[in-house]
Formats: sequence, C-alpha cells, structure tokens
Amino acid sequence: MRIITCDTYEELSKKAAKIVASQITLKPDSVLGLATGSTPVGMYSALAKLCKRGELDFSEVKTFNLDEYYPISKANKQSYDYFMRKNLFSKINIKNENVHIPNGETTDPKKECEDYEKQIKASGGIDLQVLGIGQNGHIGFNEPDASLNSYTHLANLSENTISANSRFFDTPSEVPKQAMTMGISTILNAKKIILLASGANKRRVVSELINGGINTSIPATMLKTHPDVTLICDKDAYIGAKLGIDIGGTNIKVAVIDSDKVVYKCHFKTGATEEKILSSLIEKIKSINASFNITTVGIGTPGIIKNGKVTSANLPFSDTPLQSIIAKETGLCTTVDNDANCAALGEVVFGNTKDCENIVLVTLGTGIGGGIIMHRQILHSNNNMGEIGHFVIQAENGRPCKCGQHGCWEQYCSMTAFIKDAKQLALENPDSILFGMIKNDKLSGKDIFKAIDCGCEVAQKVFDRYVRYLALGINSLVNIFGPDAVVLAGGVTEQGDKLLNPLKRLIKNDIRIEISDLQNDAGALGAAML
Ligand code: F6R
Repeated sequence: MRIITCDTYEELSKKAAKIVASQITLKPDSVLGLATGSTPVGMYSALAKLCKRGELDFSEVKTFNLDEYYPISKANKQSYDYFMRKNLFSKINIKNENVHIPNGETTDPKKECEDYEKQIKASGGIDLQVLGIGQNGHIGFNEPDASLNSYTHLANLSENTISANSRFFDTPSEVPKQAMTMGISTILNAKKIILLASGANKRRVVSELINGGINTSIPATMLKTHPDVTLICDKDAYIGAKLGIDIGGTNIKVAVIDSDKVVYKCHFKTGATEEKILSSLIEKIKSINASFNITTVGIGTPGIIKNGKVTSANLPFSDTPLQSIIAKETGLCTTVDNDANCAALGEVVFGNTKDCENIVLVTLGTGIGGGIIMHRQILHSNNNMGEIGHFVIQAENGRPCKCGQHGCWEQYCSMTAFIKDAKQLALENPDSILFGMIKNDKLSGKDIFKAIDCGCEVAQKVFDRYVRYLALGINSLVNIFGPDAVVLAGGVTEQGDKLLNPLKRLIKNDIRIEISDLQNDAGALGAAML
C-alpha cells in the first residue's frame, strides 16, 4: 500500500482528483467506482472544475457507486443517488446511462444486488475505485464482522455507522438500518484503488490500517491484499504521535511528538545485555502507546544498520534484528537508523537550522560522529556512510586510529584528542598555568578554557591548533556536501562564541556554523521523525 500524506484536506482533494483525472486521460472510457460521504466532496469539486475548464472529458466514462441506503427514495436528500447528482454528475458531461447506483427504491434488493454485480462485470470491471473509510474501518458498507460478504449484497449497518451518519439526518432514528453495498471481492477486483481519509476522527483507524495485520474486524485491512492501493490522507488523519528513541551506551532517551510538538520526554538506563535492552524497549513503547496513540516508532542506535539489523561496537548488538523485533512485539510501524543520522535529522526539523535544506552535523565527543542531511532527508547508502570522524586529515605520520587508518580527523578534533594534546603540552611545560590544572593525572576540557581565561599561552596554543584542525575538517565537508550550515554539538561547544569566533575566521565561503541548541536531545527527536 502506498501512502500519500497531505498537509490539508484541500491538498488531499487535489491529489485524489489528479489521480482520477490521469486515469480518464489515459483511458477515456474508464470505469470508475465512486464513494459518497464527506471525504470525496472536495475531490468531486476539483474534478467538476477540470471538466468545466475543458481539461477533462467524462463523455465516455462509466461509474458504479459503492453503495446506497435501503430503502430510500432517489428524491430523498440523504440518498446517495441525490448526493452524487448534486456533488458530481450535475456538474460534469457524463451520460446518464453511464451512471450506476444501486436502486434504493427496489422491492427486490437481492436481485438488485445480483444485477449490479453483473453490470460491473459486463462493463469490463472497475479500473479505478475511490473509497472512503469509516471510523470503524468499514469500506462501502462492509462493516466489521467475523466474516465478510464477497459481492454486492444487502448489509445491516452497524451502530457505529448509524451514529456516524446520523449527522446528515435530522434524528438518528431516520438513518436507514440497511444498505446495498459492493462486497469486499467486488472492491478488490478493481484494478486500482485509492482510499481517502481526512480528519482526526480517522486517525485511530488509519493507524490500525497502516500498522495492523489483515483482520475482518477492520474491513479496510483487506485492501492490503490488493497490489495497487494508494492511501491518501491529510495530516489530521495520519499524524498520530510519533515516538523517538535514542539508544546510548549509558541511557536510552525517549521523546513523543504530537502535531510537531514534544509532548513527553524521559530516559532510562541502557541494559547490559541484548535481551535486557530489547525487553525494556518493548515495555516502554507499549506503556507510552497506551497513553499517546503512537503511529510510528523511530529508533536511533550507534553502529551499522542493514535491513533493520544492528551491529554495534558500543552496544551488545550483533546482527540484532531490532526493527522486526520491535515492530512484531509492539505492532507499531518501526524504523531504525544510525544515532548520528537521527541527531542530524533532529537538528534540521527542530533545531536552530530548521530553516535549512542541507546540513552537516558534527558531534565532537569521545570520537567524532555526524550525519548529513540533504533536501531535509538523511543521506544514506547501503554501506557505513557518514563516518565523518574517519576521513584522513594528516596523511604523513598521522596518528593511529582504532579504525585501522592513520590521521583520522577524530584523532585531532574529538574531545578525547583535545584533552590528550593539552595534557601532553602541559607536561612539557611544567611552569604553565595549564600544568597546574592537572589534578590526579586528569585534565578536563573546562580546565583548558579556564587556563586560557587566565592568560595561559600553552593552553591557548593547544586550542588554536585544535581550531585549525577543526576548520580543516569542516572546510573539507563543506567542499564535499555544500551544506547551508554546519551544526556542531558536543561538550566543547558549551564554550559558545569562544569556539565559534576563531573557527568562523578559518571557514571558507562564509558558510553558516551553528552550535546545536538541542545537543543530546537531537537523537530522540530525530528518531521520531524517521
Ligand atoms: C460511502 C461509503 C462509506 C464512506 C465512509 C466514510 O459511499 O461507502 O464507506 O466512505 O463511511 O465516510 P466519510 O467520508 O463521511 O467520513
């Protein structure tokens, strides 16, 4: 099933109309299956406009409506016959004899249904079926049931549908209790299907349709057996809360995002074994889902991810099928990506570079990590891409790196490297302020900056060299990716302008350099947006 998400109902209507119009343009004598209800009204209006402008010709088109109340007179304003004429047929150049709607005035509904099915077959079958979806998952009037009727039949309306449709009638008691409807097989026989869903009252069922299995208690899930179904929904129907999880070596961070706002955050300790991590994740996701109607789960994790399987040096994951385990155990649509990629996505969606299309995130920590965002999407490959800490900036006599190369950028610009360099230079200069900062053989990043503030030339020298190396790496990234901005994160960026000002002087082309305002939260936020 393809999913098209639209910001607004207007956009949904235009997109759906475009698909119907393309169908008619490619095959002018197309057979269309049509739905009523409030959802397709905008699409019908868009199609009528195209026809009025002479851009669409319905003269050869045949239509079959999904359903009609029973019994109901055609003159009744609530009949689907009346609805279709009012919203579409009176506004387009369709021939009356090409319009088919089950006859709600018949005295023999069984025969009417059989004849309707024969007429569909005789027309060559439905090329494109338009569907809406009931809050209970019905399509047409195929209501949730233990078994579903295959072909056009007389159906009893469920209480849920009677109550949902009572908005069109003066009182709920006026809603007919039965309807003639195409069956699930009639619908599935269509060559192509578009299913429209709009509004927050469809959110739960859309989420169940996307995430759940095939089940007669949600008849729309039968559509998952069809090879060509496109679900078109507006933001209200589709965007449930998104759950983002960032698995770190020490803590697992969690964020829930609803309507672009962070509505919940928490963290808990990362378990020591694969089993402990997985069981704590499953338990947490289930409990959060119970409170927040989660549509999707995104997980960021260190390591290499292939087809949802994770292998990580920092976590007890070795070819661990994280994505499939979480999806199976929680029943939620789950995506897994590298944690640095997630952080970069978090920056471009929620951070101080949210106005950018393309960014490179550089995290200066124990090592150097990073992610590349191009056109607001993570830049991926099938291999381990984005290991920006491991491009070589010192070819000759480069420092050895645990990756097996020499001269990797992180050997010069990680926090670890910065502190190591400072300590070494301090030891070579025992009369320096920096040397005096060493306590129990330890020096921190903050100590180096304190020494600089006290006028220590040795500390200043280390920092100047650090900034030169940092600029060297950033300039290379800028040359390769041409981002709108480079975002820096990690402990050293706490120094703010003390780091930024000298760095900016060495960066080419006035490229924008930002310090992350999300820092450690970026990973979970970005994971939610995967
Ligand atoms: C209409 C139909 C129904 C509706 C569904 C959604 O012909 O068969 O299945 O598509 O009840 O209705 P709305 O669009 O009013 O929410």
